[in-house]
Amino acid sequence: MSVQPVMKPETQTAHEHILILDFGSQVTQLIARRVRESGVYCEIWPFNAADESKIKAYNPKGIILSGGPCSVLDKDAPRAPDIVFEMGVPVLGICYGQQTMVKQLGGTVTPGDGSGEFGRAHVDVTDHSDLTTGVWDAGANEQVWMSHGDHVSSLPEGFKIIAKSEGAPFAVIANEDKQFYGVQFHPEVVHTPHGVELFKNFTHEVCGCKGDWTMQNFREESIAKIRQTVGDKKIICGLSGGVDSSVTAVLLHEAIGDQLTCIYVDTGMMRAGESEQVVELFREHYHIPLIHEEAADLFIGKLEGVTDPETKRKIIGGLFIDVFDKCAKEVGKDGEPAAFLAQGTLYPDVIESVSFTGGPSVTIKSHHNVGGLPERMNLKLVEPMRELFKDEVRDLGRALGMPEDFIARHPFPGPGLAIRMPGEITREKLEILRKADTVYLDEIKNAGLYDEIWQAFVVLLPVRSVGVMGDGRTYDYVCALRAVTSTDGMTADYYPFEHEFLSRVSTRIINEVHGINRVTYDITSKPPGTIEWE
Ligand code: XMP
Repeated sequence: MSVQPVMKPETQTAHEHILILDFGSQVTQLIARRVRESGVYCEIWPFNAADESKIKAYNPKGIILSGGPCSVLDKDAPRAPDIVFEMGVPVLGICYGQQTMVKQLGGTVTPGDGSGEFGRAHVDVTDHSDLTTGVWDAGANEQVWMSHGDHVSSLPEGFKIIAKSEGAPFAVIANEDKQFYGVQFHPEVVHTPHGVELFKNFTHEVCGCKGDWTMQNFREESIAKIRQTVGDKKIICGLSGGVDSSVTAVLLHEAIGDQLTCIYVDTGMMRAGESEQVVELFREHYHIPLIHEEAADLFIGKLEGVTDPETKRKIIGGLFIDVFDKCAKEVGKDGEPAAFLAQGTLYPDVIESVSFTGGPSVTIKSHHNVGGLPERMNLKLVEPMRELFKDEVRDLGRALGMPEDFIARHPFPGPGLAIRMPGEITREKLEILRKADTVYLDEIKNAGLYDEIWQAFVVLLPVRSVGVMGDGRTYDYVCALRAVTSTDGMTADYYPFEHEFLSRVSTRIINEVHGINRVTYDITSKPPGTIEWE
């Protein structure tokens, strides 16, 4: 529903920065996160999106070529723009990126023909280089994560081998005169234990960056930018209870004080205690003007009898905009109306993805936001966090002094509990779900697992099952527990709880939550599942 064209950030060029050219790897975002963790700003551009002059004008301190699903041996295989190797800046090619670098510079790549290395592998370090200095010593044997069929079979002029593995005789290569490096493995994934240090070596030792990207700097720069953009106008910001909109609001308040009004719409489909926490933090603690709109009757009423997931999402999205519109007009009642709408859009929503299939991808779910509002009310969008990853937003929240339990909260979807309740939504079922969810999260926190898990919640199924409690028969709802690990919500693995933990949660839910007599655990990863059930 976003009405404004999504622009790439490209705004932090005052900082040292690295350019990542994406060849379509599933884990390109992890490369960016590792570079940012090393204290250096970076952006991801599709390999074919930028013409040579744009890359030159961007003036990066170094360029990273990502992995990708193609073979460099295919006809019309994606290539790095030639300028990458002509600008005199360091280049690091990862997997496909290494192979295209080798091929473009005159070496050869041999097809895997069905063989390759996938998963954990070990490399023998045979030489020194700036990339590996202080991390891997010559003579060491180091663990890495491989995922390749093709491999490099001869090097371009000026390159030498730094490390090799059984399936990749050129696992790490370097041309130190030109500062070109190639790795066949994936240093960006956690299964390469020293990956973080290798990236730090690339940004600091090879590219000469000092590391000027901190959330403290970002905070100061953003505040100045927000003041300049908003001037003396009014701005509204929708709070969802989630970390992104909360940090956006606190940052804006620090920048422009009471020119900001927050709007919190209670749809009746929030988690237990959510509304109280939001009101307490923003109105009582930060003294930010807040409109708390009780809209449970409206939302639940309009959803009566609706069971189709997309219809639910569309109804909720539409109502949200109506209510928000009404509240936003209230802000302007006694004076000037708001001119700006703030949103907590993050960098993963902004990155253009490389499409090898051509057309746009299918809509799996229509995500709800207040995207229709700027058009209707003639509001301009302010998105102070569109350059940040989720972990950076959390760091920014810390830099702003926000309470840790708010910052570390699991994401919560805009449509709320409505999409955790396949089938019809009723007040009775919402109440059952809220109670079960509270017990589940309580146990997760008691076990010290909350921060290890990206998201955990209960889903109330539209199924009743027969049970026996005491000496009586029960016929109650079934619920599914969901817990996943993820880095960005795009892919996810189910969390491997111990059986003892699961049985403790199951016992507590059945004993304490009237209306549920059977508990299951969802062991589906994403893909093929999605994190939410609808
Ligand atoms: P799925 O279910 O698509 O979810 O795997 C991925 C992440 O997005 C969250 N999610 C939403 N967030 N509005 C939101 O703000 C939505 O409509 C919405 N739907 C899903 C979900 O909780 C997970 O973190």
